[in-house]
Amino acid sequence: MIIAIDGPAGAGKGTLAKNLSSFLNYAYLDTGLLYRAVGLKMLEEGSDLANPQAAEQAAISLTAEHLKDESKLRDEAVSSAASKIATHAQLRSALLRFQREFANHPPEEHQGAVLDGRDIGTVVCPNAEVKLFITASLEKRAKRRLKELQNRGIDSIYEAVLEDMRLRDERDVQRESSPLQPSEDAFLIDTSELTIDDVFKKTLRYVKDKGIRYGGGVSAS
Ligand code: DC
Repeated sequence: MIIAIDGPAGAGKGTLAKNLSSFLNYAYLDTGLLYRAVGLKMLEEGSDLANPQAAEQAAISLTAEHLKDESKLRDEAVSSAASKIATHAQLRSALLRFQREFANHPPEEHQGAVLDGRDIGTVVCPNAEVKLFITASLEKRAKRRLKELQNRGIDSIYEAVLEDMRLRDERDVQRESSPLQPSEDAFLIDTSELTIDDVFKKTLRYVKDKGIRYGGGVSAS
């Protein structure tokens, strides 16, 4: 059982993916972290982010160690680097096998996997049983990101966060290789006016309607 979740940054797909995976006891892969790890590695090595071969090489030599420091990986400079290197087709195919392997053979005997990213429903797992596309207005997403940064003690300006997010959206949507777009068979949720709980319950109802059985203590009604 595979649940594919795509959408732009700040729409709430990571939170939904975590909630779903813990509720369903599925394994969870945040695929954005893979791109971030490649971006961080290249920044640390002083590699040219525009060089497709260097990006592919960085992806091939990625180890679990590179995924450990999540706060560093969430850094704004790394976010920007990740969205730039994610345009390289060779790098994307280098990361594809790992993502598919995780989805089809989730670790520790989980009955399913939840993957979130930009191209999960369209490219990585086109056969996923459940596909969700989570979005929200640019302004809402920028406000959420600003709050998140402030909570982490990082001084930020709304206009700068908004512009940065706009640029990342542009790169994600306009790139030739696996651009961000909803799969035709994805269930679309606009979270602009919804709470985290609203989104979770809406999704569970959809999962249930798809005939996927689950247990647990939360009602989907
Ligand atoms: O989800 P995120 O913000 O952590 O992702 C960081 C960048 O990685 C994002 O700007 C685009 C890229 N990415 C991608 O191209 N494909 C994915 N499946 C996941 C992330």
